Amino acid sequence: MNCLSPSILSADFSRLGEQIQELDEAGAQYVHIDVMDGMFVPSITFGTPVIKSIRKCSDRIFDVHLMIEEPGRYIDDFAEAGADLITVHAESCRHLDRTVSAIKEKGLLAGVALNPATPLSAVSCLLPQVDMVLVMTVNPGFAGQSLIPYTIDKVRDLKQMIHAQGLKTDIEVDGGINLSNVAEVMAAGANIIVTGSAIFNGNVRENAESFLKIING
Ligand code: DX5
Ligand code: ZN
Repeated sequence: MNCLSPSILSADFSRLGEQIQELDEAGAQYVHIDVMDGMFVPSITFGTPVIKSIRKCSDRIFDVHLMIEEPGRYIDDFAEAGADLITVHAESCRHLDRTVSAIKEKGLLAGVALNPATPLSAVSCLLPQVDMVLVMTVNPGFAGQSLIPYTIDKVRDLKQMIHAQGLKTDIEVDGGINLSNVAEVMAAGANIIVTGSAIFNGNVRENAESFLKIING
């Protein structure tokens, strides 16, 4: 299924609940929540108290993207805060298999994210265990960057790898996605679309509706 996962990193935090409701009303299926620790990536964002609080405003899928060192230490906390899907970076887990198992044991959906320069082989063994692979289309850490073109080939290769294993794993793309390139990443095989600045700059509801028109076909 094709889904829109707006990244609240670019939201107006003084009106976060309202903006999440607008996205909900526009029909966005996911809420993308970027957790950064200032170590794995340079920025620091927010953690479990914010997730717990916005959980009251939305029953959409909370798509928690952990850009933190050794995220395995915090799976229980994010599960308890209200995550539905937890994505960890292959580069930040010393024992990726164990961390993915810990997410699944909590009864949640599990995703593995790959930085632009990380090869697909980092996740190939784990494909049968994961629900989603997140192909970073920018270097993680900041909103508002431009998509790195070679990552689109990577999405295409991942789609083939998933197909070759007889799986239906979701492919999410994150970073620099806008109304001009969303069709291209979807044609390459992505079906869960993260977008931050392109949603929150301007009228949130109208922007979300424009993306959904393309995403839902
Ligand atoms: C980047 C984050 C993204 C970011 C996307 O590290 O993972 O989710 O918010 O923002 P845009 O769509 O502005 O590139
Ligand atoms: Zn993200």
